[in-house]
Amino acid sequence: MIPSPATTLPVSTRDLLDAPTRVNALELEVAHGNSDLLRLLDILGLAGPFTVESPWELRDPDGRHLIHAGGYAATPFGEAYPPLVGFVREFLEANRQLGLPQQSASEWRAALEANLVALLASVAPSHRDSRVYFGSSGAEAIETAIKLARAARPNGTTFINFQRAYHGKTSGALALTPNEEYQAPFRPLAPDVVTLPYGDTDALERALKQLGKRACAIVVEPVQGEGGVVTPPPGFLARLGELARAHGVLVIADEIQTGLGRTGHWFASVAAGLDPDVVTLAKPLGGGLLPVSATIARKALYQAFLPGFASKRHSSTFGGGTLAMAVGLKSLELLVECRLDERAAKEGAYGLQRLQELASRHPNLVEEVRGAGMLFAISLRPVVGFRVPGVSDEDVQTFAVALMLRELHLAGVHGCYSNNAHRTSRLTPALNMPHELLVEMFDRIEGLMERTPSSFAMLKRLPMPKLMALARMAF
Ligand SMILES: Cc1ncc(COP(=O)(O)O)c(C=O)c1O
Repeated sequence: MIPSPATTLPVSTRDLLDAPTRVNALELEVAHGNSDLLRLLDILGLAGPFTVESPWELRDPDGRHLIHAGGYAATPFGEAYPPLVGFVREFLEANRQLGLPQQSASEWRAALEANLVALLASVAPSHRDSRVYFGSSGAEAIETAIKLARAARPNGTTFINFQRAYHGKTSGALALTPNEEYQAPFRPLAPDVVTLPYGDTDALERALKQLGKRACAIVVEPVQGEGGVVTPPPGFLARLGELARAHGVLVIADEIQTGLGRTGHWFASVAAGLDPDVVTLAKPLGGGLLPVSATIARKALYQAFLPGFASKRHSSTFGGGTLAMAVGLKSLELLVECRLDERAAKEGAYGLQRLQELASRHPNLVEEVRGAGMLFAISLRPVVGFRVPGVSDEDVQTFAVALMLRELHLAGVHGCYSNNAHRTSRLTPALNMPHELLVEMFDRIEGLMERTPSSFAMLKRLPMPKLMALARMAF
């Protein structure tokens, strides 16, 4: 208990710097944070906290060595990458500019605007004079894109999205994320959304005809990351662009997960033949250090959104902050100078080949594997082939992923969930992970699959007290 009024606080930064293990992170988080998530992770042995051994390697509290393939595609260089951290130190020592220059020009923001537009225009020349709005999270970039599209198409009130899409969990972004578990408690959601099968151009054409002037924008991920690394059929994105143009509808390419190299391209949508009107970016732009997002839009759209004296009708205090811009600039520079797009394509092809071999050897465990550059997905066979009374099918499916993440962890690999795909776990290693470590990571997964050749075998390896604890949480 803190006496009122507080004169000291329970945990000091000194403690955290000098002896972080003296702070019981798990206990404090269960008491004051997202308790149930932390409890669930604790039962599975995944709660950490983890320490960083190298940008690509972690240790858990039991001393287990882990190869880092978590981070949800937001750690392009792994953790605390020395060239980025060294730059931040230098920046903090040398910088004399305002920290949050909301009411003035800023060299650092200007430089990131110019560099992002140049990178996009290098592959999509129609973006030569595009404009950039900076926010903090991916969802904020999507909220901005929604408002931008509404302002530019005042009669268009309806957005088109796709099944299994993931665009974030703030209200507007959530409306575009068709997941019953996430949406149901919060309806009605805005804006209006028509959801179509991903990859179905006939359905898109019909919807555009039906909606007519009500259609505002199509929001599309060039590869569905949280949907379980799903790549649309060849030609889908190019055709989507043609249809949008023919019907006067905007296209927002959500490149928050796929952009800036992860899938082997700077912009996966452009590489697939789309010339989007708006591009959203986030995750890798912050270099795994800071939240930085960007919404890039054609000049005319941006001006319709923020015109004249109304140019303040969308803003955020921290968007475009100087430290965030500096980290964004350095991250972009490292990505481009090290050609991490090409590296992601090459190492991604190696990784997918390893996963495909494993899938063919372990059909009772693996249903399918998918990949796009350094985004990998492993979809599992169901753990149980029947309905568990009192537990939703979704929870049963999620359970399979939890078991897989536990097995990955025990095998020494730190992986991630798929927010929008059941029975699918994902690997999102750093784009610059040394090849030997990547080989070791797939060797460890091979060992796991040999030890645990079916989904049911994963369940059997879960000690009974843990199973009971999970069951108590589910019911
Ligand atoms: C494609 C896509 N869009 C939007 C988001 C939301 O980003 P954030 O979690 O930073 O709000 C994500 C996050 O995974 C994403 O993958």
